[in-house]
Amino acid sequence: MSVTEALAFDMYGTLVDPLRIWKQLERFLPREAQRIAELWRQKQLEYTFRLTAMERYEDFEQVTRKALDYALAAVGCDLDRQQKDSLMAQYNDLERFADVEPGLQRLKEAGYRMVVFSNGSPAMLTSIMKAAGLYTYCDGFVSVDEVRVYKPSPQVYRHVANRLGRPIETVRLISSNPFDVIGAEAAGMQASWVNRSGGVFDTLAPPPHSVVRSLIELADGLAQGPGGQ
Ligand code: 2OP
Repeated sequence: MSVTEALAFDMYGTLVDPLRIWKQLERFLPREAQRIAELWRQKQLEYTFRLTAMERYEDFEQVTRKALDYALAAVGCDLDRQQKDSLMAQYNDLERFADVEPGLQRLKEAGYRMVVFSNGSPAMLTSIMKAAGLYTYCDGFVSVDEVRVYKPSPQVYRHVANRLGRPIETVRLISSNPFDVIGAEAAGMQASWVNRSGGVFDTLAPPPHSVVRSLIELADGLAQGPGGQ
């Protein structure tokens, strides 16, 4: 089967689970760990949206550190520099979701060209791709750091299509983050929503035609050709 699309995989929340950071947090703050992890992720993304709206840029490592400081202060806690550094190190070694390896293996065997496409900084993505064994399946990564604006700016989706040397409509974003999926489709990219939480899609726009629960289901759907997904 000739594959007509290239696949661009979001990282945090799609290939690895940022909320697993709470296990590391539990070592320091057992009672507040879950709440801090949720606040941390929410603020991390909020800061990326606000920086882009302000036409400012700070890389994802800086944004992630500042979001952690906010989350700790919001629950009335603090950690020392060494503890925060160990949390940031853990951020570069998050667990891969169980379906990622079998799903990517199938897609690789089907002949898809695949890249990681993320808000992550080059340093963060290099670390996590090595730790999660993703270089086996993906031709490296495209970081929004290359254009210094964050998702869902249309610039980032155009950039990944340019880096792949393809018309944007022949690239498919694979993401668990509805804001990312809506941003990609608004820029003219194909998109599949990996609904890992079983939750509802954003009401800002309808869900994409392709909605799956895992990368295995995605591989099966894409194997059926355009009608499948
Ligand atoms: C990523 O770009 C959106 O954080 C998510 O990997």
